[in-house]
Amino acid sequence: MNPERPPLARIIEEELIDYRIRSRFYHPEYVKSLGLSGTERMLEFGSGGGCLSRVLARTLSPEGALSCVEISPYWTEKARQRLKNFTNIEFLQGDITRMPVPKNHFDAVMIHFVLHDVEKSARIDVVSALATCLRPEGALFIREPAKPEHGMPLSEIRALMQDAGLREMHTCCSKSRQWRGICNGTFKKSW
Ligand SMILES: C[S@@+](CC[C@H](N)C(=O)[O-])C[C@H]1O[C@@H](n2cnc3c(N)ncnc32)[C@H](O)[C@@H]1O
Repeated sequence: MNPERPPLARIIEEELIDYRIRSRFYHPEYVKSLGLSGTERMLEFGSGGGCLSRVLARTLSPEGALSCVEISPYWTEKARQRLKNFTNIEFLQGDITRMPVPKNHFDAVMIHFVLHDVEKSARIDVVSALATCLRPEGALFIREPAKPEHGMPLSEIRALMQDAGLREMHTCCSKSRQWRGICNGTFKKSW
């Protein structure tokens, strides 16, 4: 996919369903389930048009901060415009593996439906970059589709996290009708 120019169908779907109507994936209950205190410094990798960023920013208090990293200039600008009234968000446009990220800085990292879109051979570099910017005992949250036709298996997520030095706290692939084919995980940095 060309990150400079998203397909028109995706722009319309994102605007109408994900952002305005708010699809089931951007529900506050999901963010509540992460157990954030609100004061975290959080990095959201591949934040797109900011559908989840809006929910995260509402959960974080003014002492917390959200850094949205997005490779596409189109989606970065879209999110910047949409979320301009939030004082606790910054937007960084670029490829996480090529930008200077502060080491041991963030209390939490979010990967929400992004890693399966990254080329398979590049995934370990992405996860390693994210692990580097996480502080020791910081948490990485991941939610990805895991269907064979669209997504990545939980076994691959586990292997990538382990290779990046992150330990598993919790993983699950839902079997419920509504959430079938979606995997969630929480990993922590020990080093
Ligand atoms: C399917 S969208 C999900 C967006 C958002 N996380 C959400 O759940 O609404 C995946 C996003 O990841 C971005 N992305 C892919 N590879 C990236 C990279 N290496 N660095 C930063 N962003 C990336 C894409 O441009 C796209 O906006």
